Amino acid sequence: MRQFGLIGYPLGHSFSKGYFTEKFDREGIDAVYNNYPMASVQEVPALLLTNPLLEGFNITIPHKETIIPFLHSANEVVKTIGACNCIRIRDGKLQGFNTDVIGFELSLKKYLKKEHDKALVFGTGGASKAVQYVLSKLGIEFIIASRKVEGNGATINYESLSEDLLRSSTLWINTTPVGMHPNEDAILPLNYDAIGARHYLYDLVYNPAETRFLKEGKQRGAAIENGYDMLIIQAEESWRIWNSIE
Ligand SMILES: NC(=O)c1ccc[n+]([C@@H]2O[C@H](COP(=O)([O-])OP(=O)(O)OC[C@H]3O[C@@H](n4cnc5c(N)ncnc54)[C@H](OP(=O)(O)O)[C@@H]3O)[C@@H](O)[C@H]2O)c1
Repeated sequence: MRQFGLIGYPLGHSFSKGYFTEKFDREGIDAVYNNYPMASVQEVPALLLTNPLLEGFNITIPHKETIIPFLHSANEVVKTIGACNCIRIRDGKLQGFNTDVIGFELSLKKYLKKEHDKALVFGTGGASKAVQYVLSKLGIEFIIASRKVEGNGATINYESLSEDLLRSSTLWINTTPVGMHPNEDAILPLNYDAIGARHYLYDLVYNPAETRFLKEGKQRGAAIENGYDMLIIQAEESWRIWNSIE
């Protein structure tokens, strides 16, 4: 039986194990996907020793960045954004990939129009790096909002987001966990009245399917998208990588 899995901490409510177990069952694939919760990434060598048949694994919070020194090779995306969420093991060597990038790009394109040429990215964590990579690739200008900075610049604090900027930036992307279950009442401190029908609000959170952030957009006629398709696409991309011969 082929073996795959996920490292991270904690892993209680991870999506991937359920997704792959159901996929293997549905498609008659003789494989298993296990959760390997580990508080420290230093436990990876022991994991590999005790699971010599492991062909690949995903990496989630908090190890997407700290896993990088363990890689024998990394693709361009991993090198550029400094985050890896998928490893393929070939001849005992760990090859690093980032499937959040393709997941975000393909799901974003669903409602993306030419008029969405200026974006606001909320949050500066690992997911934000994947989002920034895609926006740069697509030639979409963006400003990042963070709680950690003072005033204006390429990264700006929430208090400095003027109504003009919120109106003219027609693509808003939430990469923070704000509004995620069980804190569904939480919402980023923004002037939502600046949203119009030309806006596109994308929330990487997928549980609940409609966060308060997305509801604010929907009720003003904006296009909205949650993180569910991104999640499915990045999982399928992992599967493609683990099976590809290149
Ligand atoms: N759909 C998918 O496939 C997918 C993939 C990856 C991640 N995600 C989701 O994306 C979210 C972020 O993931 P991540 O890995 O980037 O997490 P992370 O590394 O912990 O970063 C989250 C960022 O959000 C900001 N933030 C955190 N708490 C906040 C608060 N209370 N108010 C305002 N900003 C806050 C922080 O930026 P500042 O400190 O600069 O403000 C932080 O850097 C999670 O909800 C995750 O589930 C979804």
